[in-house]
Amino acid sequence: MITLKSQREIDMMKKAGELLARTHKEIAKMIKPGVTTWEIDEFVDHFLAENGATPEQKGYKGYEYATCASINDEICHGFPRKQPLQEGDIVTIDMVVNLNGALADSAWSYAVGNVNPLTQKLLDVTKESLYKGIEQVKVGNRIGDIGHAIQTYVEAQGFSVVRNFIGHGIGPTIHEKPEVPHYGLPGKGPRIKEGMVFTIEPMVNIGGFDTKMDNNGWTARTRDGSLSAQYEHTIAVTNNGIVILTDQED
Ligand code: MF3
Ligand code: CO
Repeated sequence: MITLKSQREIDMMKKAGELLARTHKEIAKMIKPGVTTWEIDEFVDHFLAENGATPEQKGYKGYEYATCASINDEICHGFPRKQPLQEGDIVTIDMVVNLNGALADSAWSYAVGNVNPLTQKLLDVTKESLYKGIEQVKVGNRIGDIGHAIQTYVEAQGFSVVRNFIGHGIGPTIHEKPEVPHYGLPGKGPRIKEGMVFTIEPMVNIGGFDTKMDNNGWTARTRDGSLSAQYEHTIAVTNNGIVILTDQED
């Protein structure tokens, strides 16, 4: 069942989203060769606490960290670690902020120092694919229109879209209906309605879309070892149009 959110709930989720966006802007300043994802995770823990919020991922199904930190060929759910980031790496930081019981979810990929042109293209295409998906969010469209737009754009650029991890409704809990795949056919899936709040979070690989799971039972990486990037926003459909709850623009 897809639960529709009241304007009051959406307003509260927007506050969580604004704090999450500010957190990403602080992370962006920290990213450089030598910094560790462990330090970033500690920063997020403290920054959220200072701002009266908590990291919803910590303790979720036994996950132990405030953030997921996925480096290079890791697609998602990488563990923060004490190994320094190196020039040319890419790292995706994903987190869910809980502010007064309202949640927002956003992942962002970052370049560490200078990256090669193909890596930069992966970052640009993945971010743009998120916005191609967001353009399809309107009352009367279907959820499948989002994934179709993302897949069409990404494949035209020569990259692939991960199938095994998808966007999701979000409310009092992280994962709700609807499921939001980043691939598929237009005109399929539930109709988009006022009051829906869900994530769009394409994971895009330079090589193929197949995944493999690490022994830790959490971290997914590309089967062929190619690089993977991800950008994620939480989107609300309101009576005033769509709102990107985790927007980083001022
Ligand atoms: N933020 C993730 C998402 O976009 C959820 C991660 S669940 C965790 O769906 F347990 F890994 F934290
Ligand atoms: Co997320």
